[in-house]
Amino acid sequence: MKNLDKEKLPQHIAVIMDGNGRWAKNRNLERIVGHEKGIESAREIVKFCGETGIKVLTLYAFSIENWRRPKKEVQALMNLLKKYIVKESKELLKNNICLKTIGNIDDMPPSLARIINQTVEQTKNCKGMIVNLALSYGGRDEIIRAVKKIVQAVKQGSLKEDGITEKVFSSYLFTKDLPDPDLLIRTSGEMRLSNFLLWQMAYTEIYVTEILWPDFKREDMVQALIHYQSRERRFGRISEQLGTIG
Ligand code: IPE
Ligand code: IPE
Ligand code: MG
Repeated sequence: MKNLDKEKLPQHIAVIMDGNGRWAKNRNLERIVGHEKGIESAREIVKFCGETGIKVLTLYAFSIENWRRPKKEVQALMNLLKKYIVKESKELLKNNICLKTIGNIDDMPPSLARIINQTVEQTKNCKGMIVNLALSYGGRDEIIRAVKKIVQAVKQGSLKEDGITEKVFSSYLFTKDLPDPDLLIRTSGEMRLSNFLLWQMAYTEIYVTEILWPDFKREDMVQALIHYQSRERRFGRISEQLGTIG
């Protein structure tokens, strides 16, 4: 078994934290118990990534499609998120972690949106890791929003059609200040993107594990990173070219 190479870490890891419901079902428990356990995994993974030197960790916490779930589950998830952020805000500051969000924060219940915005503001000067929570997030929604803003800018004359490059387009997305993810981890074995970071994941390495999110712990993260380090990222080139590019 290989060891982790600290020199070859991904800068940005994105995680689809999936399988909470199945974890609970396997134990004849309510789905929400799975979500509660999932929060513990999130806490452990944030801590591990901070200690390991990962720069950005994006956690898919609630998709725009998740609003379609039963009201009771949505409500319980909102309460859990609130509890997590309130509890974690001091810890984030203490560990120099900057909280960011992507998605439609204004869709969240007002008391949750307020706490999120407060914590984002309080931690904005933290220079350690960035924890980026995707909340009410949808990749297609994000792209449509960007297109609308670009159309507006072109109409107003602040942007020219020729000026719409990939870089400029990226600057209209929620992730404008972040590098694209190097590694996507999805737990619970599902082989799909579920509308996550569609633009940003053009060249992201994908790692899927059967482990359900509440069971995903630091040693599983180490495995994912070791696996990532065995990949050859070619970005369209051929192997022989890779040593020679800057
Ligand atoms: C992921 O776990 C958490 C959220 C989507 C909020 P799920 O709740 O999707 O768990 P499964 O997929 O039903 O097992
Ligand atoms: C994706 O998981 C969203 C989050 C983990 C927040 P889902 O469980 O909602 O995805 P689908 O519905 O199985 O694609
Ligand atoms: Mg799921």
